[in-house]
Amino acid sequence: MKQKLEAIRQEALNAINNADVSSELEALRVRYLGKKGELKAVLNQMGKLSAEERPAMGQLANEVKAAVNDALAAQAKRLEEAALNKRLENETLDVTIPGEPVELGHKHPISIVLDEVKDIFIGMGFTVAEGPEIELAEYNFTRLNTEEGHPGREWTDTFYITPGDKDPKNDAVLLRSQTSPMQVRVMEAQKPPIRIVAPGRVYRKDEADATHSPMFHQIEGMVVDKNVTMADLKGTLNEVIKSLYGEESVTRFRPHHFPFTEPSCEVDVQCFACKGKGCSVCKGEGWIEVLGAGMIHPKVLKGCNIDTDVYSGWAFGMGVERLAMMRFGINNLKLCFENDVRFLEQF
Ligand code: DAH
Repeated sequence: MKQKLEAIRQEALNAINNADVSSELEALRVRYLGKKGELKAVLNQMGKLSAEERPAMGQLANEVKAAVNDALAAQAKRLEEAALNKRLENETLDVTIPGEPVELGHKHPISIVLDEVKDIFIGMGFTVAEGPEIELAEYNFTRLNTEEGHPGREWTDTFYITPGDKDPKNDAVLLRSQTSPMQVRVMEAQKPPIRIVAPGRVYRKDEADATHSPMFHQIEGMVVDKNVTMADLKGTLNEVIKSLYGEESVTRFRPHHFPFTEPSCEVDVQCFACKGKGCSVCKGEGWIEVLGAGMIHPKVLKGCNIDTDVYSGWAFGMGVERLAMMRFGINNLKLCFENDVRFLEQF
């Protein structure tokens, strides 16, 4: 029996030390130490030994078992280390390989134009004001002298969130259809002299096509101070248009009507493509409309507690998309909102 045990030890240690995958080690463990393993088979014979022989054999059997166990653990550790070394070798990082270029994003054409307009006004001493896109009818219409019954207030033109009722506490909530409510919000918060521009999104129930979108951007401008006249409005807007379209650009101020300005005007720029002769860019007109403006209506000023004997003001509202389209020769407004990188990459 002693020889048998020694033979098992020899054979097992040999096999274990030569095993080169862990599944092989497990098979060897079962073969030598398992319930039906070789060591167990020898121990089952213990009963045949004399009482004197038994303890020594028992001890030897335990030694063999411990030796096999130790060998299994040691070999398992060696295999693990070898596998790790192999992985480290395979996965080494070659830091000399040139990196993949990182694609940088582009500023959207609308943001480019907006930032430019803001910069021009900031350079003239204006500050930038921002306000809510979800607005009360009171600010979007009523306090801009646009009473109930005006077509702009119809649900067919404006996106209402809640319709409101006669009680002023339940005023209608809507998506602002213009940036003009910012005039009222700023006059409520600030005392004259005021010089602000207020850029932002506006919403109208317009069918999307090459020149319309239910969401677009405007930039509102407003000056309230002593002795402010229409001449200041013309001078300032002419300067702005020259900065945007070049020194030689020609403007035209046409009388118009807006409820919140008196007098009101629309401003056109002579078509830069045909110099006023008429072409496809200006649809044969020779002029391109760029903004609406006027002297702030006394009713609007008074509604904000501004003393109209002391102060007067002018305001304008400009469509940013139109500006961007003219500036970059974009022929379809939809391109501005589709987020196609092939389009956006060009700016
Ligand atoms: N809010 C007007 C619109 O969306 C544009 C406008 C006209 C703004 C005259 C003004 C203004 O501030 O004075 O059509």
